[in-house]
Amino acid sequence: MSVMGTSGEERNDYTKDESRQIRQRSLRLLGSLISPLRARVILTMVVVVVSTAAQVAGPALIAFGIDRALPALINGNSLPLVLVVAAYLITGVAGATMIAWYTVLSARVSQAILFDLRKRVFLHTQRLSLEFHESYTSGRIIARQTSDLDAIRELLDSGINQLVQGALYMVFIAIAMFSLDWVSGLVLFASLAPLAFLTRWFQLRSQLHFRETRTTSAKLIVHFVETMTGIRAVKAFRKEERNREHFGGLVEKYRDANARVIRLFGIFDPALVLIGNVALAMILLLGGLRVSTGDLAIGALLGALLYARQFFAPAQEMAMFYNSYQSAAAALEKISGVLEEEPSVVDPTTPIDLRKASGTVKFDGVEFAYNSDKVILPKFDLELPAGQTVAMVGTTGAGKSTLAKLISRFYDPSQGTVSLDGVDLRKLHPKDLRRAIVMVTQEAYLFSGNVADNISLGKPDATREEIVAAAKAVGAHEFIEALPNGYDTDVNKRGGRVSAGQRQLLSFARAFIADPVVLILDEATASLDIPSERLVQAGLQTLLSDRTAIIIAHRLSTVAIADRVLVMEHGRVIEDGTPQELISGSGKFAQLHAAWKDSLV
Ligand SMILES: Nc1ncnc2c1ncn2[C@@H]1O[C@H](COP(=O)(O)OP(=O)(O)OP(=O)(O)O)[C@@H](O)[C@H]1O
Ligand SMILES: [Mg+2]
Repeated sequence: MSVMGTSGEERNDYTKDESRQIRQRSLRLLGSLISPLRARVILTMVVVVVSTAAQVAGPALIAFGIDRALPALINGNSLPLVLVVAAYLITGVAGATMIAWYTVLSARVSQAILFDLRKRVFLHTQRLSLEFHESYTSGRIIARQTSDLDAIRELLDSGINQLVQGALYMVFIAIAMFSLDWVSGLVLFASLAPLAFLTRWFQLRSQLHFRETRTTSAKLIVHFVETMTGIRAVKAFRKEERNREHFGGLVEKYRDANARVIRLFGIFDPALVLIGNVALAMILLLGGLRVSTGDLAIGALLGALLYARQFFAPAQEMAMFYNSYQSAAAALEKISGVLEEEPSVVDPTTPIDLRKASGTVKFDGVEFAYNSDKVILPKFDLELPAGQTVAMVGTTGAGKSTLAKLISRFYDPSQGTVSLDGVDLRKLHPKDLRRAIVMVTQEAYLFSGNVADNISLGKPDATREEIVAAAKAVGAHEFIEALPNGYDTDVNKRGGRVSAGQRQLLSFARAFIADPVVLILDEATASLDIPSERLVQAGLQTLLSDRTAIIIAHRLSTVAIADRVLVMEHGRVIEDGTPQELISGSGKFAQLHAAWKDSLV
């Protein structure tokens, strides 16, 4: 497992060693993103250097024009002026063209990086095992794919451009300035001290405040997402008023954090202008004195003044770079954490071919714990012969779903092996495994698309006849026909909205069409009314007839169709027998059954 760990929230209390590892992890990711684009990155750099140089040539050409070309013209030689004007036009046009080219090039590089990263984050989170998804909240995954990628996009799109262009600009101007008039160059150089001081102050302060705006906005989003995903509970328990206060508080904090950032700019911007103007005034003063004594040409002074004005222009954007760099670096750290997370359930390197599976499931010395501190299923052996219909009952939290998750290999046992027809599940090809073993849960998730698409998920190449046959088999055909467009009804459109029980029927059809040798129903009939359940029961019997089936159910009516009943308690199977045997005995199941019988009369 990587440094981040899969459980809990992001931590801030990293040790030195961990921080170094995290930085290295980010750099590795960055390297792997950039290395395929190396040639393009180099070309982009060359273009930006040349274009900046072309842009900076302007004032020097003006100075030359005034000091040399104009006197030459007065003396009857117009060639120097023509040359200067031509050079000015050429550098101007070339500079503009190159800037355009640079914009396109750098956008291509940043888009390529983002494209790659976006895909990687999606594919990788999808590949990660259930263990990861059960502890890494969906809100955090959404943040990886949205705000974190946005922070990186912002850095790539504007931050780096501004830094590179700004830095080059300042360096070229400094060089031009010194070669034009070294005294003005020195003034500019001297102004770097307050500029550096101001920028550093701004960076330190803004870092603090920007982090505050980021954390407050993150809290805002989390609260919003939680309220809206839990809107039913919010309404049912009249939580609106408390939410209003809580959210109001968060919004206020966010506003205050933003106000602090803006106030910072209120100091930084004027201070920057002041430094620039003082430098300009000094250059004018010192230059003017030397022009009057004839030590400096007037064109050179004009050039120096033009340079000085341009010199400070990129400073503000460069100061901002630090912030976008910081949030992008934080985002990259988090994303690289997810990307270095390894699936806990690993695909086999050399899978064993499962020819015709018959469906015998066997647990050999299996022990299971989600976290090493609490064993959920203590060591046990269990065999479910091929074709048997097994009902599993037991109190809430007994470990029934956990056992089911081991059979469908959402998790691997901590010890021992789970096998299908004698083959360790860990050695099966995922494709074989998914074809052989299907688990239907209460969740019965429907994806966007129409009803037929949702059923054929179990068998992507199914024909319409097969889909209809599957729906008929589980008793879903009637209600599907009654939908506005029958099997072509969009499940997300008004009118296509189906009830919880109907959703379960659809997921049965989905399982039926997949035709697995082992089928697990984890409380999959819980939302059905008694008539529907009866209807399904008939369908269920066909669905379960020639395969191994594990039905987890609280309703004892569902249990009646089983060949065998397992009663679980605290992670152990405490009773195991045919329904008749258990009912006639004096165990837990007999008690449950008697109570259930009583409730019927
Ligand atoms: N992802 C998880 N991480 C850690 N512990 C878990 C996880 N899922 C379940 N547990 C714990 O494992 C135990 C068994 O849970 P399980 O879901 O298997 O119970 P169950 O028998 O299916 O209960 P129910 O009838 O309520 O569905 C519970 O104590 C639960 O707290
Ligand atoms: Mg359960």
